[in-house]
Amino acid sequence: MRAGALNDDASYRQAVIDNCQIIVAEGEMKWSDIHPARDTYSFEKADTIAAFARQNSLAVRGHTLAWYGGLPAWTDGIATRREAERELTRHIETVASRYRDVIPSWDVINEPLVDAPSGAQNLRDSIWTRKLGAEYLPIALRATAAADPKVRLVLNEYDIEFTGARFAAKRRALLELIRSLRDRDVPLHAVGLQAHLFADRTIDRDGLQAFLAEIAAMKLEVLVTELDVIDFELPGPIETRDAMVAKVAKDFLEAVCEVTPPTAIVTWGLSDRYTWVPIYFTRHDGMPNRPLPLDAQLHRKPLFDVIDDIRRRFA
Ligand code: XIL
Repeated sequence: MRAGALNDDASYRQAVIDNCQIIVAEGEMKWSDIHPARDTYSFEKADTIAAFARQNSLAVRGHTLAWYGGLPAWTDGIATRREAERELTRHIETVASRYRDVIPSWDVINEPLVDAPSGAQNLRDSIWTRKLGAEYLPIALRATAAADPKVRLVLNEYDIEFTGARFAAKRRALLELIRSLRDRDVPLHAVGLQAHLFADRTIDRDGLQAFLAEIAAMKLEVLVTELDVIDFELPGPIETRDAMVAKVAKDFLEAVCEVTPPTAIVTWGLSDRYTWVPIYFTRHDGMPNRPLPLDAQLHRKPLFDVIDDIRRRFA
């Protein structure tokens, strides 16, 4: 969700209250928003979201503490290993402790892997890998656990669910990464499947279920953290499109729930009125994208019913 919309759009605000138990800040808790200069934090927008959650007895998912993206320019000036460790740890202590009362679960690590893991270097390049190598993961996870001993520590990743060699490689690389953390007793409680689905890709049911069985065997929870369906290459007619969007979400959620019912299903936005999808995946026909459970008028779409039905069946 977006703090601006929460402040300015009463019908959207009400729709969140009516439909959600958990909310997440789309950008307001990312480094660039909350920590714009080395010695300056800017909590206003994140605080708006936290206050809204407190008022309405909602939980907030924290997003995110260690990510290659959404970094303010000043982090380019981090010169040494020591400095990187100090800045990462300080940031996490400050942000994670501030929202302890409303955030039971943090995406500590976001998108650690490259898009096409080949075995050689699977970690995505960032200021953190450049200065700390693979150590940035245990540093971030341990700092979060220290700031809030009760919080669930989540490693969040995308492109885990589809058919194709690139996605199978991503599943393998993610398992390998998680195993290496566990072998070193690094605290971690859950794997977040972002689930930015594409209605024109198929879910690799067997591949995904085999992956989840390994996760479950390691006693890790699974969450769906950023569900939406990217519809930019789907046919225009709305009924056809909404049905295709709902179908891929159903295939995905059923495959997940049959192995490990997720501890949360969080969508990346609630209404098509506010979505990141058109920024990156604009439709060529000029029609608006429809990736989310409610349409731009806040009416329920087939995707809403799919999620509702899954929650009932696998509760
Ligand atoms: C996106 C936000 O929705 C946009 O508003 C922002 O401009 C860029 O980031 N995976 C993630 C999210 O983990 O942080 C991204 O959010 C979407 C993809």
